[in-house]
Amino acid sequence: MSNNETTGEVTEAQIAVHWQEEEYFYPSTEFIAQANMTDKGIFDRFSLDNIPECYKEYADLLTWDKYWEKTLDTSDAPCWKWFVGGKINVSYNCIDRHLAQYKNKAAFIYVPEPEQEPHQPITYQELYVRVNEMAALLRDFAGVKTGDRVTIHMPMVPELPITMLACARLGAIHSVVFGGFSGRACGERIGDSGSKILVTMDAYYRSGKLLEHKDKADEAVKVADEEGVTVEKVLVWQRYPGKSSSKTPMQEGRDFFVNDVLKQYWGQRVEPVQMPAEAPLFLMYTSGTTGRPKGCQHSTGGYLAYVAGTSKYVQDIHPEDVYWCMADIGWITGHSYIVYGPLALAATSIIFEGVPTYPDAGRAWRIAQQLDVNIFHTAPTTVRMLRKAGPDEPPKYDYHFKHMTTVGEPIEPAVWRWYYEVVGKGEAAIVDTWWQTENGGFLCSTIPALHGMKPGSAGPAVPGIHPIIYDEDGNEVPAGSNKAGNICIQNPWPGAFQTIWGDRDRYVRQYYERYCKDPNSKDWRAWPYLTGDAAMQAPDGYYRILGRIDDVINVAGHRLGTKEIESACLLVQEVAEASVVPMADEIRGRVPVIFVSLKPGFSPSEEIQKKVVLSVEDTIGKIARPAAVYIVHDMPKTRSGKIMRRVLAAITNRVDVGDITTLANPEVVEEVKKMVQS
Ligand code: WT7
Repeated sequence: MSNNETTGEVTEAQIAVHWQEEEYFYPSTEFIAQANMTDKGIFDRFSLDNIPECYKEYADLLTWDKYWEKTLDTSDAPCWKWFVGGKINVSYNCIDRHLAQYKNKAAFIYVPEPEQEPHQPITYQELYVRVNEMAALLRDFAGVKTGDRVTIHMPMVPELPITMLACARLGAIHSVVFGGFSGRACGERIGDSGSKILVTMDAYYRSGKLLEHKDKADEAVKVADEEGVTVEKVLVWQRYPGKSSSKTPMQEGRDFFVNDVLKQYWGQRVEPVQMPAEAPLFLMYTSGTTGRPKGCQHSTGGYLAYVAGTSKYVQDIHPEDVYWCMADIGWITGHSYIVYGPLALAATSIIFEGVPTYPDAGRAWRIAQQLDVNIFHTAPTTVRMLRKAGPDEPPKYDYHFKHMTTVGEPIEPAVWRWYYEVVGKGEAAIVDTWWQTENGGFLCSTIPALHGMKPGSAGPAVPGIHPIIYDEDGNEVPAGSNKAGNICIQNPWPGAFQTIWGDRDRYVRQYYERYCKDPNSKDWRAWPYLTGDAAMQAPDGYYRILGRIDDVINVAGHRLGTKEIESACLLVQEVAEASVVPMADEIRGRVPVIFVSLKPGFSPSEEIQKKVVLSVEDTIGKIARPAAVYIVHDMPKTRSGKIMRRVLAAITNRVDVGDITTLANPEVVEEVKKMVQS
């Protein structure tokens, strides 16, 4: 595991909870009988020796305009190019090709948060029409061309995937920003990607309130402008078409209601652009070790092949299934496993606007019963929340899941068991899927009909993924030794991101430099991919993920950079220094706790604490709201003046602070302890 003692950093992995090894649970014979993947031979076919050619099996799930000539081009190592020479369109693969057989089947079923509003099924035919009209609007009204970036800042409504698919139809690169992020966060991402078009919505429902959203667009445009990028058009969808749900004025010549403009494009059809397989499909920003979020650039052909393959074999999606992933489309999980993977397989995928505990803890299960959902996908943080809000709710509803997923953070065995026994009624196969924004799709998970489930462990690597665990010095930690180290992936796979948008150096430095065997090599075997997680492998081959080894905090399954939060704190005029540490939390997994010291002449007050919280929310979004803000006289520091986060984290999590003799000011430790622990 990363040893950051010298720099005073603390990582999630260092405060990881270690639970005991558990017994296996097995999938039912009914599940196995219907499963898409029951052939153990897949692991031989996808062996290390068969990289990259094995991935033809996934690419063949798609319809290509032109077959590729080279499966993997490594000439620009470590920027891997998959299916080179191939031509394909993602929108065609997710919609048009299903029309002959499934045009009258629901692609999406939209469930608005207010329970009195009807569900809205959108058939593949209707999706086809709406995506074509939106593509025509983007091209002819907004001037979007192949390769342009389009930023989309929207809540969970069907117009979000419609806009994404319209971009994909044109070969434009979408950059979806999670709807809960602030206008400033959106503006920074517009600035980085250079988008001239912002697509947004006026308002949406959350916990019973119609929230204003358009105001964030104004802020975003302003921030983008400061970054040197002029947004030419802001396209605003209306939550209720034809009716204004936002108090924010529209700026003439810049802001347009999409549903008004769409009338001009009624009945228009747009030929899907045949894109090179290695052209970028989208950017997805994520937090890293520096203040600025980075745009992970995902490919067209490789990405779609990987999400189609994993949706079919790990999610076990069949066209007749009703699939509900409760993630937000604004995160990678939603891109891969609400939109692209399920649609590539002609599934019916549910889009839910609201929170699953509103108006009460039975809401999610009522939806499951009414729509006859049989595949359910969510994060441990949501499972913990549902369990707390209504531990006895699921049996009151008549639904049956064949398959359930957890994703985003480790799941405690006790929570897993509630998920299995109460939510899944003991009938569903569960997969615990470990992966990251950078990866496009799953890295580790059981294959549901082939492996037993072990609560608290992600499972073995999925077919075609070959992990290796290294220690600090680059020695391989023996496989199956249950010893923790830095988990890497030895081989490229088609779902992996291609680079960081506009920053290839950072891509190489952050993901490949550490364990690279030869920086001049064009052989992928020289370039293990550093995931940034600590993990251990049990003798049965199952991996247990311990958490991040860098200064990233996984809050409720979402990644936040401590540096990002600290810079937000420093925007408060009174604040001199800020330090953020992860605190273990019963529901959210980890939450940020903030320590600040003040500039001379200021004294601690509740007002300053509030300002810090507000600044974090304004800069990043409510998701980053700290559990506590402590104003300290001084930070524990090394003699060279570095803040010892490790000490602050130990105090926050009530564990031993360890050796503090090297501190320049050991007396502050007691002071901080009193403040935090009393
Ligand atoms: C980080 C990635 C793409 C998934 C959504 C989050 C942690 C993810 C698991 C799991 C334990 C997990 C890792 C990873 N993580 N899945 N099943 N068990 N930890 O994507 O925001 O890019 O975060 O989430 O620490 O590095 P992300």
